[in-house]
Amino acid sequence: MEGVTVVDHPLVQHKLTLMRDKKRSTKGFRQLLNEVGMLLAYEVTRDLPLEPVEIDTPVATMQAPQIAGKKLVLAPILRAGVGFLDGMLTLVPSARVAHIGLYRDPETLQAVEYYFKAPSDLADRLVLVLDPMLATANSAVAAVDRLKERGARDMRFVCLLAAPEGIDRMRGAHPDVPIWTAAIDEHLNDHGYIVPGLGDAGDRMYGTR
Ligand code: URA
Repeated sequence: MEGVTVVDHPLVQHKLTLMRDKKRSTKGFRQLLNEVGMLLAYEVTRDLPLEPVEIDTPVATMQAPQIAGKKLVLAPILRAGVGFLDGMLTLVPSARVAHIGLYRDPETLQAVEYYFKAPSDLADRLVLVLDPMLATANSAVAAVDRLKERGARDMRFVCLLAAPEGIDRMRGAHPDVPIWTAAIDEHLNDHGYIVPGLGDAGDRMYGTR
């Protein structure tokens, strides 16, 4: 599917299976989300451009590669997106972090922003938008809308599970934002849950069910 990368690494697939199991504890789920976050960060940064820098090893001077450009931005959508943060920051410790808080207005069903805090120079940075579940894509589309309004131009969306409906909506609204996911599930049910999915990622991560 154009613009969608399914991360089929065996470690990611194995951990995802453990997370889907409804018997997994809150502690286990949270730990696994962290670990998968790390692995997804590895995959989504695979093609970042490098530039040479001169360094002195204890033995000689050399030109060695380093990641070019400004530090990237991790932008979790509250609250489930925060579950990816620690794992990703373990791999990319100098990344900047933008927080995006959205809720769904019960009458209009539109995503309403209640919190937004991001580096001011979004236009100069690669932004990874994080949300474990790409279901209807309402929040994902709204988050990317907000980031674009604030100048972001180079974005990638990272999730754990995606529904085909969510992918279609996101690709239609923001074809310039490629998607990385560990799996594409069957469909959305009438309550907006991904099937077979793993339930409510936020509840499972924070034990709020
Ligand atoms: N959000 C979740 O946490 N789970 C779903 O299945 C859909 C949206």
